[in-house]
Formats: sequence, C-alpha cells, structure tokens
Amino acid sequence: MIKTENLTRDFGGGRGLHGLSMHIPKGTIFGYIGPNGSGKTTTIRLLCGLYRPSSGQAYIDGLEVTPENSSKIKRIVGYMPDNFGVYDQMSVWEYLDFFCAAYHIPVQQRESRIRSVLELTKSQHMIDYQVASLSKGMTQRIGLAKTLLHDPELLILDEPASGLDPFARIEMRQTIMRLRDLGKTIMLSSHILPELAGVCDLIGILEKGKLLAFGSVQEVSKKVQENMRITIILDSDPAIVQMICENFPGVQTPTVNANEVHFLFTGARNSIPDLLQQIIKADARVMEFKEDQADLEQVFLSVTHQG
Ligand SMILES: Nc1ncnc2c1ncn2[C@@H]1O[C@H](COP(=O)(O)OP(=O)(O)O)[C@@H](O)[C@H]1O
Ligand SMILES: [Mg+2]
Repeated sequence: MIKTENLTRDFGGGRGLHGLSMHIPKGTIFGYIGPNGSGKTTTIRLLCGLYRPSSGQAYIDGLEVTPENSSKIKRIVGYMPDNFGVYDQMSVWEYLDFFCAAYHIPVQQRESRIRSVLELTKSQHMIDYQVASLSKGMTQRIGLAKTLLHDPELLILDEPASGLDPFARIEMRQTIMRLRDLGKTIMLSSHILPELAGVCDLIGILEKGKLLAFGSVQEVSKKVQENMRITIILDSDPAIVQMICENFPGVQTPTVNANEVHFLFTGARNSIPDLLQQIIKADARVMEFKEDQADLEQVFLSVTHQG
C-alpha cells in the first residue's frame, strides 16, 4: 500500500528525511515512531504529495506520488495532520458537510456519509456541538471523522494521540482497531513507543531522518528487550544484593542508590528468575524486582548499538 525507495527530502544541516526505503502491505497498521524533529511529518507530507522529494520515490497503491497522480492519490489517502485548522464558527455537522462538498461527495449522499463517520468515531452525540466548544479529544475524533468522509483505503494519521488524556487515547486506539477491522491500511506516527506498541503490526523507528529499525513489534521490541534495565527495591542491605548481581552473567555494573539496586541486563531473558532466586536465598528482603519501562531514548540506544 505504501512503498518508498530511498526517499529523501533534505532541508540542509542533516534535517529532513534521508534515504527511507520501506514497504507497508495492505491491511497493516504501521506505527512510525521517532522523537520530535526526527522527520515523521516530513515523511507523511512526502507520502501525501505535499512535499516533493529531493531524491527517491514514494508509491501509494502502486502509483508514484507525483503532481500528475495527485488527484488519484487523494482519493486513496485520508490524511489527518498533526494540527489541523478548525473552523470555529461552525457546528460539527456544518464542518463535516463543508468537507463533503470539498471532497465532491454528492449532496444526496452527504447525510449518510456524515452519520457513518460519526458512528465510526463514536461521535454521534457531537453532531450539533459547536466546533469551538470541543475538547482536544473531541477535536481529534472529529478530525478523524473528517478524514474518513471520502472512505479512503489508506489512513495517514500524524500524531493522532498527542495531547490526549489516557481515556481519549484508549478511545482513539479502539477507533483505530475498528478501522483495521474494516480492512483499512493505517499509518500513524508518535513520539511515544508504548502508545503504539499495542495496536501496530509493523513499526519503524526514525531518528534524525533515518530509519533505525523496521519490522513487526515483536522483532523490534526483541532487540530493545535484549537490554533490560532492572530495579530491585529492598528492605535489607543492598550491598549483598549488589554483590550477587555483580557475579551474575549478563549483569552490567550494578549501582546502589539508597535501598535500590539498578543495573543493565544483557543476558538471556529466561535467566532472570534464577537471579531473583539467588537473591532470595541470601535472605534479602525484596520489596520489588522490576524491569524499567524502556523509554524511547533507551530504545534508540539499543537499536543503534545493534546497528
Ligand atoms: N519546510 C521545512 N523547511 C525546513 N526545515 C524543515 C521543514 N519541515 C521540517 N523541517 C525540519 O526537518 C526536521 C524534521 O521535521 P519533522 O518532519 O516535522 O519532524 P517530526 O514530525 O518527526 O517532529 C526538523 O529539524 C525540522 O525543523
Ligand atoms: Mg511531526
């Protein structure tokens, strides 16, 4: 559904997108992850034909993204920008009707299209709300409803969950799952890894305009998890536990901080219970033994070390 070959947009000084080659099959949910400024929006704008590449090609459903193919591609793609303009002096109904007109949806079909996109995004109750009165979460839902009006096969959503509270995020995820069940291909970007891990079939990790890792969530997170960060919280002398850890294969220089022991673990994942057993046999009182959530920085570190 999406294919890029050496896709590049150079803004100078290393900024932009450099040599992106990837392939996203139909029916996939693809999570595009990278910190702010890594080139996610640039990629998306290239895919939608809003930027021309400096070199390389992008294809949507086999069509090269060029000005000549632009109207065909627009029919296939539903693009939700990271911050879209809202037309404050309108009701939700008027807003969606306005975009139906923009998409040349025939007048007699508009009402049923609007009702169906509101249903898909669970926003039926907002139909008469003023756009200006919507919360961030509601605005995102109406933005997505708008993106669905012309029933695109491919959805490209730029940071759809950013700025949402946890409840609205869960709703956004559920909506994405519903769209997947309808057979849509979905590309969504985020600067937060765990936000996407649960819904995506494929993920790509971007940093400084370069794709560092690409594959199924399992493939990429396995790389990440080969380096685990462990914290042990104790109600007994941490020095003893530190010594045990030091002698355990795969533990990298454990450090003590008050009643906590921290270390990076690069050994076999299934040997972790043996370490815990040794610690308990030494009569240490363990309050917590946990893997720290990998944040994006750690993901990048481990991914680059692999590369
Ligand atoms: N139109 C532009 N002109 C010049 N530099 C740009 C332009 N658009 C983006 N950039 C730069 O390219 C880099 C990637 O930006 P962007 O794709 O928006 O990142 P992301 O969406 O991952 O936060 C940033 O350093 C940004 O400043
Ligand atoms: Mg962006």
